Amino acid sequence: MKVVLCRDAHEAAALVADEILAALARKPDLVLGLCTGSTPVEVYERLRAARARGAASFARVRTFNLDEYLDLPADHPQSYRHFMRRHLFDGLDVRPEHVHFPPAEGDDLTRRCAAFEETIRAVGGIDLMLLGIGRNGHIGFNEPTSSLASRTRVKTLADRTLEDNARFYGPDEVMPRLAVTMGIGTILDARRVLLQAIGPKKAEAVRSMVEGPVSSVFPASALQLHADVTGYFDPDAASLLAERAYYAKTRVLELELQRAGRL
Ligand code: GLP
Repeated sequence: MKVVLCRDAHEAAALVADEILAALARKPDLVLGLCTGSTPVEVYERLRAARARGAASFARVRTFNLDEYLDLPADHPQSYRHFMRRHLFDGLDVRPEHVHFPPAEGDDLTRRCAAFEETIRAVGGIDLMLLGIGRNGHIGFNEPTSSLASRTRVKTLADRTLEDNARFYGPDEVMPRLAVTMGIGTILDARRVLLQAIGPKKAEAVRSMVEGPVSSVFPASALQLHADVTGYFDPDAASLLAERAYYAKTRVLELELQRAGRL
């Protein structure tokens, strides 16, 4: 996994947003995999700003969100559909029929999850997958012990995830215990993966993901099996990495090769 040690969260967001915009300039019908959470918010702000100043058009882009809570209506303030409208889609020219979420309401979920996977395949697969990471190593809602070959399906949320989410719910509100998420296999099929991690609470998770063994007990470690993943970490999130000096040296040398037009 390629590691980029960023000065701060803003640099991480700027690098990720710039990479998405560069990919969009190369391929106007880019297929994006998108995540939610506090981590990507600044990336989304930057994409909206690029659209507002006329520097990018998303009119041909297709998006596939990673996950959604089971049975939260689309207009519920905690639903990921609501989050995405508020933080990204309302400020873009993306066409509503090009926006896809895993099926998280109604019946026949197994068949509709398979249809979601089929839609991804039918548009040629995900070009760029944007990810965050949960403290327990989940990506999307692939909780510990998720099959490394899993596809889109219903998952039970782990207690640690429920604890982390509790802050978003009022005392009388019922918190979802189930979600529908792309599988780890679905994520690994994306051509390129960008993962951001910010803040000291993510330091253990970043260490296990980058330098730990590949194991379903720590789902994000499966990204070690992907040929084109870059992790963008602020100093707090990167603080427990043993090989920080190596990652820093690698970045400098790679940028030199890039500038010389040799990569
Ligand atoms: C949720 C989402 C993940 C996200 C994680 C981290 O569990 N399903 O996709 O990566 O939260 O959220 P945050 O960025 O707020 O730390």
